[in-house]
Amino acid sequence: MSTVRITPVDPTDREALLAWNTLLGEGFNAGREAAWWASDETTLARFADPKPARRSVLLVASIDGERVGAAGAEVDPGDPAEVEISVLPAHRRRGVGTALAAAVREALAGHAEIVQAETYSEAGVAFSLAQGLRLGNQEHRMLRDLPLDPAAAHPAPSAAGPGITVRTWRGACPEELLEDWARLNTQMEADVPMGDLTRPAPRSDVEALRRTERRMDAQGWTLVRALAYDAGLAVGYTEILVSRHDPEIITQDDTLVDRAHRGRGIGRALKLANLENLAGVPELARARWIQTYTALDNAPMLALNRSLGFREADVLSILEGELPPA
Ligand SMILES: CC(C)(COP(=O)(O)OP(=O)(O)OC[C@H]1O[C@@H](n2cnc3c(N)ncnc32)[C@H](O)[C@@H]1OP(=O)(O)O)[C@@H](O)C(=O)NCCC(=O)NCCS
Repeated sequence: MSTVRITPVDPTDREALLAWNTLLGEGFNAGREAAWWASDETTLARFADPKPARRSVLLVASIDGERVGAAGAEVDPGDPAEVEISVLPAHRRRGVGTALAAAVREALAGHAEIVQAETYSEAGVAFSLAQGLRLGNQEHRMLRDLPLDPAAAHPAPSAAGPGITVRTWRGACPEELLEDWARLNTQMEADVPMGDLTRPAPRSDVEALRRTERRMDAQGWTLVRALAYDAGLAVGYTEILVSRHDPEIITQDDTLVDRAHRGRGIGRALKLANLENLAGVPELARARWIQTYTALDNAPMLALNRSLGFREADVLSILEGELPPA
């Protein structure tokens, strides 16, 4: 049997970086509907300005000179490493994934204690379990077709109680809202359902938020945001992400309503206001879907998303395991 050869990719080599990204995406998204993958521009921007102290691992697997699979891993000090491994469908079940996983483990030794891997397929779950990982969390990926049909988007009145106001904007957070935005983002980091996964350290201080906004803008992301206030107190937020490079799939990201204020229609009011806010983004004209992720057991959010026209597309499984010490 031909042997699998694993070679590292130099992220400063533009052509090699883009070929690696394409190969990784082809294997990862094979057979999926409306699946997002980072464009060339996004990938170049991401590696042109790497986060300080982040370790990135980029690998390609070949058999007899033919490229058949790829792996990527990233870790910030103290956090779990995020690993992606993919093999082109025609070359699966020949040990390529296993060889890539071994090379990733070796490259991460001493840089991470925990690894996490995301997959949308039964093969990916079975493979990760075979690698010694455990299932940590699962979420529905929900899709809503675009363009938005305003008539269909309002199945029920937006019944947030009296005193609730929603502020929306696009791009960096206005200075006067920053403290509220940071506080609710920190709360989200602590509250978001993560199953049995290790929670990364919170990092939504004002300075970190500004850094992230700058970095996302440089990578071509438009941030579409809304904050809800109850009698002057910030009680919830939501955020949509639009890639200016590839806006075909838009992501409805975090939505949080403070526990004490749930069940009053604030989540719906936030999402509806932010969909209206989204209508002002020029790239919306090129968008075909909006996607969002909801934990399998988050009944209130599943119901809200369905009422806004989202349907379940596939299931994201996140698996986790320990790396042996270096
Ligand atoms: C998951 C993936 C990388 C596996 O690649 P691969 O080269 O086929 O994996 P291997 O041949 O090394 O398989 C190793 C073991 O994983 C398990 N496995 C892999 N695919 C499986 C499948 N379809 N069904 C059941 N078990 C499977 C088996 O235990 C297999 O050992 P075996 O072939 O001796 O039974 C590939 O299917 C893929 O690219 N999927 C899409 C991306 C993805 O989900 N990545 C995983 C998360 S990072």
